[in-house]
Amino acid sequence: MDKHHYSPPLNFHRWLEEHAHLLEPPVGNRQIWADSDYMVTVVGGPNQRTDFHDDPVEEFFYQFKGNAYLNIWDRGRYERVELREGDIYLMAPHVIHSPQRPEPGSLCLVIEKTRPEGLHDALQWSCARCGNVIKRYEMQLESIVADLPPVYERFYATSEEERRCSECGEIHPGRDWETWHRMLHEVHGQ
Ligand SMILES: [Fe+2]
Repeated sequence: MDKHHYSPPLNFHRWLEEHAHLLEPPVGNRQIWADSDYMVTVVGGPNQRTDFHDDPVEEFFYQFKGNAYLNIWDRGRYERVELREGDIYLMAPHVIHSPQRPEPGSLCLVIEKTRPEGLHDALQWSCARCGNVIKRYEMQLESIVADLPPVYERFYATSEEERRCSECGEIHPGRDWETWHRMLHEVHGQ
């Protein structure tokens, strides 16, 4: 973004209409301005997943349509943060979180800052039974939209043996979020 000249405002509703086809599966998200210090993204549902994000900067959420929730790993236990329609939420850096968007057509505005060189994000996959980290991949994140999918694919390509928990022996089901969530519910009541 040009540092010395202003750009005209966007009409948010018109932008949403124009990008509606990208805010549903299989894409599900779209960054509004490229090359800006604030990465302003709209994320749509449905989208459910097994990965957790360790973000070195704050994340701001405005769940402006429909409901969603975050699975959180914090202080040695799984917790759940509801993002109900109309909620705004500011998450501290390094809160290990996994956004879940079960509702088709739900929309959330997410704002986070670009990462300075050397400040790394991570995606990690953890045991639904005991919380032990199965795999963790760190990266210098430049694009939320482009940099994460290759990491998902890398994890999904692992063998069952590579996904066996070294603490309790449970096998992580990989991309099969329904199985992972069922286990989380059975063991932790979430
Ligand atoms: Fe485990």
